[in-house]
Amino acid sequence: VFTIESDAPFFVAGHNGMVGASFVRLLMKSGHTNILTVSKTELDLRNRAAVFDFFSGTMPKYVLLAAARVGGILANKTRPVEFLSDNLQIQVNVMDAALKFNTLRLVFLGSSCVYPRMSPQPIKETQLLQGSFEPTNEAYAVAKVAGIKQVQAVRRQYGLPWISVMPTNLYGPGDNYREGESHVLAALVKRFVDAERLKLPFVTNWGSGEPLREFMHVDDLSSALYQLLHNYDEDLPVNVGSGEEYSIKQISEMVSLAVRFNGEVRWDQSMPDGVMRKRLASANFHPRHTLDGTIKAMVAEYSSSLR
Ligand SMILES: NC(=O)c1ccc[n+]([C@@H]2O[C@H](COP(=O)([O-])OP(=O)(O)OC[C@H]3O[C@@H](n4cnc5c(N)ncnc54)[C@H](OP(=O)(O)O)[C@@H]3O)[C@@H](O)[C@H]2O)c1
Repeated sequence: VFTIESDAPFFVAGHNGMVGASFVRLLMKSGHTNILTVSKTELDLRNRAAVFDFFSGTMPKYVLLAAARVGGILANKTRPVEFLSDNLQIQVNVMDAALKFNTLRLVFLGSSCVYPRMSPQPIKETQLLQGSFEPTNEAYAVAKVAGIKQVQAVRRQYGLPWISVMPTNLYGPGDNYREGESHVLAALVKRFVDAERLKLPFVTNWGSGEPLREFMHVDDLSSALYQLLHNYDEDLPVNVGSGEEYSIKQISEMVSLAVRFNGEVRWDQSMPDGVMRKRLASANFHPRHTLDGTIKAMVAEYSSSLR
């Protein structure tokens, strides 16, 4: 059990992203008074010298590494170089600097994409590297597995209690709605809102609609991360899931209903489905939010960004 002092310097890397922003909100609510954040324009984490300067000037005792190049199937497919190279550079720079400047606890974030495509469900942490990756997210997965390995190496060689956390698919405020960069839920919200505004007769979704995905609200992930920061100290990464599982078709129906879209929904089976089922075996983190209750808020968030 760790005491996380509220006045100790806590660096949240990627605080403008969905996870980073949520975690900063939680730290503030929990009374933390020394939260360090820096935007990508001020500090590009791929710049090794600049990252070392930042750490030497701020000496963070705690680090949440939530900065990464993140995206859906299309972005992974078309920009594998960035997914591999940017993520490797960001991770290696932040972890090397954290090691040099004595960060006590570092939390590295991976995702369910790290596990083999044929993993038995629900996916246990011990499945790591037991089979080949899903090809649609291989570059991202390889970078993330390297991050997990670096955390394990630091634990073994230096005895520091750093950990890796693998969250399931996330949703919530601050999701990325940009074309080609978004995950399935945000992509569907954008597609249906746009179609409704333009009064289109139909929308076309990718794949068969059959794959099952587990979803978790980002604020529930933050609560889990804060809990794990206090009590998790193992070599193996730890999964954080919700048990809330839906087919892509069900999600499409929920979004369509929230938007009150009256047109037809078509499925383009020439587009990839990705893994057919991805559910994490996870301890119960008592999620407080449900997908149904949040889709309306996401529709409102995306709609207001258009005004
Ligand atoms: N979203 C999910 O469903 C999900 C699920 C499982 C795990 N995760 C993991 O959670 C972490 C955070 O994801 P997220 O959803 O919060 O992603 P996000 O919203 O895209 O946030 C990532 C943040 O990292 C920043 N960043 C990217 N490249 C950078 C660089 N070179 N230097 C400095 N900052 C950089 C981005 O800044 P800009 O916006 O300025 O580019 C952005 O603020 C990732 O490690 C991801 O793998 C996410």
